[in-house]
Amino acid sequence: MNQYVTGTVIRELREKNKMTQLQLAEKLGVTDKSVSKWETGKGYPDITLLEPIANIFGISVTELISGNTVQNANVSSNMLRSKFYVCPVCGNCIHSMGEASIHCHGVQLMPVDAEQTDEQHMVFIERVEDEYYVRIDHSMTKKHYISFMAAVSSDGIQMVKLYPEGNAEARFKIKGVKRIFFYCNRDGLFVIDPVKGIDDREAAYDDSRERKELEKIADKLFG
Ligand SMILES: [Fe+2]
Repeated sequence: MNQYVTGTVIRELREKNKMTQLQLAEKLGVTDKSVSKWETGKGYPDITLLEPIANIFGISVTELISGNTVQNANVSSNMLRSKFYVCPVCGNCIHSMGEASIHCHGVQLMPVDAEQTDEQHMVFIERVEDEYYVRIDHSMTKKHYISFMAAVSSDGIQMVKLYPEGNAEARFKIKGVKRIFFYCNRDGLFVIDPVKGIDDREAAYDDSRERKELEKIADKLFG
């Protein structure tokens, strides 16, 4: 992480905002030569200019210094667009309703992308009364394990921390849950729609059984 605003950040922000060096200079009450010096790493803007620079580009001073601008268009945050940030050093997991600038152990965390579940990360979901019982067929060794599971509805999140040598399973109240996420420390974040998962499996099962029975009857009648 930068300790102070860099020339590259100023240039990128200026170009993104379609401003010339002169236009930026005039807004700040400095010469365009000064702006040019900042951008080529031959000088820094005075600390009293940080706030005006941030204001011109519509970002916070923290974002200006970290070089990480967060344009959170999702103002009315939606739980279903939840983001998870996972620290690669300690495994800390942070949930956010939108994008955010988050650091842990000195590392700028990026939101992790959720993949559809795969053969190495098979999920089994059962309805047990008012809960989903979710089990993942996966190793739980210290080197390779599922570190958390989360069930997200439009108005809430249920999160369960899992540990190596434990079981890769969790229970969630069904009410309103639209997505179930889980994180493998090696392979990243996965997501599944619990309703679709269960319904599809049941439908597929019923279908095939029904078809077999119909075939048997047909065999008896016409075979
Ligand atoms: Fe894995």
